[in-house]
Amino acid sequence: MPPLPEPADRLLLEESPIHPGASHTVLVLDSPELAAHTLSTGARTLAFCDSASEHHRLVEGVERVTPDEELDALDLVWGRLPRDLDALDQLCSWVAPTGAALALGGRTKHMSPTMNSVLARHFATVEASLGREKSRVLRALHPRTGGNRPWPRRREIDLPTAGGGASPLEIVQHGATFASGRLDPATALLLDRFDTMINSEPGQVLDWGSGAGIIASTLSRALPDASVVAADLSWAGWAATRDTVASNTLTVDAHWDDANRVLRERHWDLVVSNPPFHAGAAKDSSATLTMIDLAAEQLLPGGEVWLTFNSHLPWLARMRRHGQAEVVAQNRGYTVARLRPGRGGGR
Ligand SMILES: C[S@@+](CC[C@H](N)C(=O)[O-])C[C@H]1O[C@@H](n2cnc3c(N)ncnc32)[C@H](O)[C@@H]1O
Repeated sequence: MPPLPEPADRLLLEESPIHPGASHTVLVLDSPELAAHTLSTGARTLAFCDSASEHHRLVEGVERVTPDEELDALDLVWGRLPRDLDALDQLCSWVAPTGAALALGGRTKHMSPTMNSVLARHFATVEASLGREKSRVLRALHPRTGGNRPWPRRREIDLPTAGGGASPLEIVQHGATFASGRLDPATALLLDRFDTMINSEPGQVLDWGSGAGIIASTLSRALPDASVVAADLSWAGWAATRDTVASNTLTVDAHWDDANRVLRERHWDLVVSNPPFHAGAAKDSSATLTMIDLAAEQLLPGGEVWLTFNSHLPWLARMRRHGQAEVVAQNRGYTVARLRPGRGGGR
């Protein structure tokens, strides 16, 4: 086996309370490389990665599972420590009933003492390793039994309806869902212009990076005859979209996938997004820049791209390469911009 590239994974090999072998059943989290290593020890290896790209990279022989599935008894759960407290809480709710010991590694700068408190809700013993290579491992032993599984969580938000006005939609949130299922201020600014966005009654609609499904569900409710597609790379985003859509008895075709792959597959009247500027913990514009270029190519005649974003981000300049891109709304922090390719603009 090649050495594990991530320092937190290497530290886990030393600091784990159990060293996997043929007699063990192990669940690996968010690390295809650690999953391949675990399989090579002879252990029965299950794995889940929140990112669809990483989940698809899991090697043959690893059993793919998701947090929707109830797990049988496990000896060890190990992998990457989620950065978000709700994501950690949902993870613990999922795995504690298996009786497994838990060992999660991460960058020390992304850890906080509150993570120990979250772990302590689910495990009687919580310990931290010494740090090395800017990383640390948290160990949680002796799972507490009982208690219910409070995930996913639900809240009602007033969202726009066709022809003005607003009425509530039930929004479902998994632990790692963007904005904890709340209305993000950039999304709120976009939805302030909802009537203009759907004025041309688009028939083929894509919500690129759908999170809790707020935009896709609002569109589906207002445009019952449209084909509304949503895609999120994160399981927690996709599952929240799926559950929000089901809770409100709407119809949205939701994909756990790279939205650029979904975008490429069809032609669209409307591509709408509150797009990411991170990939995992790292700042990364590439997926959004690709999306702007691809969307301009994949639009049907008269089609539009609507983006909402932090005003300092360079998306408007990129949109302007493809035609007429205009600011539709702006406040102190955020900009909503519309691209109509082929009209004016150009490289
Ligand atoms: C800023 S959030 C917006 C979520 C939601 N649309 C909203 O307005 O609340 C961006 C979303 O894009 C997702 N994402 C990031 N990269 C992606 C990609 N390549 N394909 C699909 N979704 C992606 C993230 O998981 C996240 O849910």
